[in-house]
Amino acid sequence: MKIAILGHGVVGSGVRQIIEAKKKEEIEIISILVKDQNEVNDERFTTDAQDILNNPEIETVIECMGGDEPAHSYVKTALEKGKNVISANKKMLSNRLDLFETAEKNNVKLLIEASCGGGIPWLINLRRIRRNDDIKEISGILNGTTNYLLSRLFSEDISFEEALKNAQKLGYAERDPSDDICGYDVRYKLDLSIYEAFDLLVDNKEIPTYGISAINDKDIAYAKKNGCTIKLVARASYENDKLNAIVMPVMLKKDTVFANISSNYNIVECVSDYLGKADFIGQGAGSFPTGHAIVQDLIDLCEGKTEDTKHKAVKKNVDNDFDGIFYIRHNKTDVFEEYTDERIAEDSFITCKCAFRNIERLFKENEDEKMFIMEVEG
Ligand code: HSE
Repeated sequence: MKIAILGHGVVGSGVRQIIEAKKKEEIEIISILVKDQNEVNDERFTTDAQDILNNPEIETVIECMGGDEPAHSYVKTALEKGKNVISANKKMLSNRLDLFETAEKNNVKLLIEASCGGGIPWLINLRRIRRNDDIKEISGILNGTTNYLLSRLFSEDISFEEALKNAQKLGYAERDPSDDICGYDVRYKLDLSIYEAFDLLVDNKEIPTYGISAINDKDIAYAKKNGCTIKLVARASYENDKLNAIVMPVMLKKDTVFANISSNYNIVECVSDYLGKADFIGQGAGSFPTGHAIVQDLIDLCEGKTEDTKHKAVKKNVDNDFDGIFYIRHNKTDVFEEYTDERIAEDSFITCKCAFRNIERLFKENEDEKMFIMEVEG
């Protein structure tokens, strides 16, 4: 199969190196799109995407550019020109769920395993589980950058900024790291997981998303004092046509499975009727783990093993009808009086068990850019 790679950064170069190292004879890299002329030091490198999109020889395009545009236009054009696309770009894919329809209309494949959980075979396992089971819940630590950050903040005397710089150096963080620390990257991954697990097309903006950008020493100290750690967790459940979906930090007892996933590792969990609980752990970010997942999709394509990626997904709104206990740090604690169970400091408290919806409404009415919320797992 003749292929092209769009982008030669952390992920794209990992894909090229794996293909070259494994000497897969059935795969030939014809062309690689790079950012600027100075990088053109290999005859396959080009700075013009049209060289790839207009080349009828190329059957499959691997998109590793990241970001919404121009990645979206290139992927759309490739699909319309009858090329399969493999993409790790969770932001673009989640913003453009209609691309799955474009692929189907043009009788080609859009494969996205690398977009969620990096190297973990997650989406493929959701599809396998669904063949003889109904998935009820999915959850996970789906961002390597924030997990790496939180692990270091809990185990060393290091500042948030310093730890983030390290995550960037290691190639975990997005070009715009606010996507990581504000939770948006997890939101996109949760949205794509919902698509695979429940056949639902959800507008990602509907998923309430709280990140760790405002976490401070007091929040960390509170968790430590209670024998807990903090993880940024994505959760969704779907039953009786009710969809709950949220991205939020969670304070977890140190002896739980999720609490022990550290550094750039991710964990994803699926609960279904017959299998019960199944957990998958692996590196969620980085050149080779993500490249590995992309090359897996490529091998499946070469071997014609992609039949079960077809979906009959329908549009759905998020209902978010669930209760919880939350730690909240906010500059207007008074407005939460009705839901306050225990005061921790002037600006922080623990709620009683209450509907998340009510808390969310108060956040909307009383904005505080520096607020921090985490669910307290009971
Ligand atoms: N920035 C992402 C993360 C990369 O840290 O998980 C992998 O999707």
